[in-house]
Amino acid sequence: MCGIVGYTGNRPAGPILLDGLKKLEYRGYDSAGIAVRSGDAPADVVKTTGRLVNLANATDEGRALAGTCGIGHTRWATHGEPSRANAHPHVSGNAEHTASGPVESAVVGVHNGIIENYEELKQKLINNGYRFYSGTDTEVVIKLVDYYYNKYKIGPIDAINRMMVRVRGSYALALMFSDYPGEIYAARRDSPLIIGVGEGETFLASDVPAILKYTRSVCYIDNLQSARLLPGEAHFFDLNGDEIEIPKTEITWNAEAAEKGGYEHFMIKEIHEQPKAVRDTLHSLIRDDRIDLSATGLCADDLRRIRSIRIAACGSAWHVGMSAQYIIEDLCRIPVRVELASEFRYRTLLADPDDLMIVISQSGETADSLAALRTAKAHGVPTLAIVNVVGSTIAREADHVLYTLAGPEIAVATTKAYSAQLAAIYALAVETAFARGTIDAAAYARFQTGMLALPEQMERVLAEKERIQWFASRHANARDIFYIGRGLDYTVGLEGGLKMKEICYIHSEAYAAGELKHGTISLIEDGTLIVGVLTQKQLLEKTLSNMEECKARGGYLIGLCPEGVDVQTGALDFTIRIPDTDPHLIGSLAIIPLQLLAYYTSVQKGLDVDKPRNLAKSVTVE
Ligand code: AGP
Repeated sequence: MCGIVGYTGNRPAGPILLDGLKKLEYRGYDSAGIAVRSGDAPADVVKTTGRLVNLANATDEGRALAGTCGIGHTRWATHGEPSRANAHPHVSGNAEHTASGPVESAVVGVHNGIIENYEELKQKLINNGYRFYSGTDTEVVIKLVDYYYNKYKIGPIDAINRMMVRVRGSYALALMFSDYPGEIYAARRDSPLIIGVGEGETFLASDVPAILKYTRSVCYIDNLQSARLLPGEAHFFDLNGDEIEIPKTEITWNAEAAEKGGYEHFMIKEIHEQPKAVRDTLHSLIRDDRIDLSATGLCADDLRRIRSIRIAACGSAWHVGMSAQYIIEDLCRIPVRVELASEFRYRTLLADPDDLMIVISQSGETADSLAALRTAKAHGVPTLAIVNVVGSTIAREADHVLYTLAGPEIAVATTKAYSAQLAAIYALAVETAFARGTIDAAAYARFQTGMLALPEQMERVLAEKERIQWFASRHANARDIFYIGRGLDYTVGLEGGLKMKEICYIHSEAYAAGELKHGTISLIEDGTLIVGVLTQKQLLEKTLSNMEECKARGGYLIGLCPEGVDVQTGALDFTIRIPDTDPHLIGSLAIIPLQLLAYYTSVQKGLDVDKPRNLAKSVTVE
């Protein structure tokens, strides 16, 4: 979704803003713009459509705009088509800013989010003499701030507060007021926004990678709070306009973690970082042969009390939830229900205070997952968030937080965060099972050994990548791919299939193998690729026979099975072997070849692997 940046300090703002926007490219966008002002001169605004390189070229990498204070934006269209007129920054003045150059306007701003009641507000503003040049809700919110600012002759913070009371929806806003040179004003509700403070300079961004190079000291501004940024200073205010304290947090990620580090794409770098992500996550949870969940605030009594578990998440995080369902039910004997967060939020919740609601999210900002968390909390259900981004909204609002230690994930298609989430689920499931007595001490020890061996086994899978690359080079033109499996294998297929859709634009379906005959098998024709995930020993023969049924209809069979397991592979056209481990844990190994298959297919097709069309890394609107 949209990315916003801001800078005020003593250096030229343009290059810093552009650099920050590049770090937010992963969020997905279709146009971009920056506004920079020098002293009390009007802001210079430049907007372009398409890739950031167009904005960089139009501004000589930001150097063409004089000034040390500015804001920038990458837009992912919600209201209004992708166009220059709809690109941000927007201005409060009535005239469309048609060419690049200085803009005489009281307020200039950028916005991430959706203003739900923008039509009603727009009409009110039109009645008061405002004219609109774009189809965006952002222009409405900026003109609304301008309206209060002028009508009541109040300061920026009071004008912003009046706007916040009137507006429904989500926003992270960065505004410059022509009367306040060198200052940026910010406000937030349900869209991510961080403020970074350095020596004589202050930054604002949607996400940490945009400012990591400049400062590690950040403040997380909360809902319905606003901020006034001056060089080296940040002041925060509540809805009454009273100044409040927001503590600074030190970011521990290093700046290199958000760079490609010699790899061609972030995705392949992050695929290779999975052993480390899993190792770091497990080492934060396993100490002295014990799984220690104390950092989450959950104790053994809490785990024993759970009557049922609900898991809500979106996309790949939902696939982790699907795996968790099989693992937790089998090990802990607790009923688990996995929900798509976008559906859960509008369903009737039959809640029990002895349930546990688990929300899984890499970004911690996904709008539907956040809404699911809030719904559960409102019904008195204890909540546990499994989140990667420290200080994100879901992490801050959940009762308990289990942080995955995957580091910054930049590629839109998740890989290392998914693997770290799975690792966190293993630790949670095994500890819960032990606390409830559904596994004994020997099994508890065996699971820990199995988990801790995963990173090294993942390295071994990665070492086989050339074979997958070779296969991808021969089958990149596939039109349809089906991923089938039973039990946990089905959940691995779900994730493999999503990777193929996301970055290769190939139609793929993940099916519980037993369901094929109930309709989908009619789609199998000559050359259709069938990926069978065959890691669950008690189920793989059944899946194999479903694969044979596909072969009889022309399907080309790819089988993914553990080393040393006697699988009748005669019917398979291509076999991928992975190291063996406990069947509950093997998804961590099985997913890697499927990630690699999607990655190399996308590269072979010459697609934008890290920033696939239409997608945003973090979906912060419904
Ligand atoms: C996965 O590759 C996707 N980028 C997407 O499905 C993602 O997992 C989903 O949007 C959830 O994001 P979150 O983990 O940040 O909540």
